[in-house]
Amino acid sequence: MQVYQEKKQIKAVIEQLKTKQLTLGFVPTMGALHQGHLALVEEALANNDKVVVSIFVNPTQFNNATDLEKYPRTLDDDLGLLKTVSEDRILIYAPTVDDIYEGQTVSQKFDFDGLEHEMEGQFRPGHFDGVGTVVKRLFEIVSPDNAYFGEKDFQQLAIIKKMVEKHQIPVTIVGCDIHREANGLAMSSRNARLSPEQKKAASFIYKVLTTAKKQFGTKSAYKVTEWVEKQFSKNDVLRLEYFVIADEETLRPIQRKSKTKKYRAFIAVFADDIRLIDNIALN
Ligand code: PAF
Repeated sequence: MQVYQEKKQIKAVIEQLKTKQLTLGFVPTMGALHQGHLALVEEALANNDKVVVSIFVNPTQFNNATDLEKYPRTLDDDLGLLKTVSEDRILIYAPTVDDIYEGQTVSQKFDFDGLEHEMEGQFRPGHFDGVGTVVKRLFEIVSPDNAYFGEKDFQQLAIIKKMVEKHQIPVTIVGCDIHREANGLAMSSRNARLSPEQKKAASFIYKVLTTAKKQFGTKSAYKVTEWVEKQFSKNDVLRLEYFVIADEETLRPIQRKSKTKKYRAFIAVFADDIRLIDNIALN
């Protein structure tokens, strides 16, 4: 399994693959890989000849310096995990900040037709410009046929689809199901920072989401939201940042339930300074 640090090197290899008409899947990650990432890689391997996995903690998408500093970095473990999936069909791109940003570590400004102003956009200013900037650059370097993203970051997935459409980038975006721990907690690299007690307590997030889903069948979004907020106000370990029921397409908060629309509940929660997000389809 080859690890490339420079875009020059990986681009040359990819060019050769393309001349052989091989199809290329791409799984962009920030490392600290877990089962959820491996499921994306497996899906990519099942549908492409070769798969590039990028491992890059992208500074421009962090709106909080401590979060960036504390983000887990576990390259050796990551490579070990990827080897268990395939020895010979995965290429790793693990660049330095300079290789991506060439001395200008700043974001491009994007217009995602308003998707960027909802939920995460309100609490993490600049985050989606950072995500858009790095993913666009990575697409230019890797030029994949298909790229795979987890639905845990559902808003990110929507934004990337929008970027590809608006900038006419020739790649198919594939969204993949959320992977969960046995206790229901959505898999995330940040989970590595949770203490055993926090991890146990964090199973509450998915319990609340599944109950909210049941309630949404008969109750108004307002009532469900009120109930969720009350549950978290009684929780000593977890602090609710937001719970929003939104239209799956526009990501705008629901006004009045419509039978023809698809809705999803989105949640962001803190355990100390560790921020966890999750979501669930409601209908
Ligand atoms: O979801 C992530 O891990 C990151 O936001 C991504 C897509 C790799 C961009 O840095």
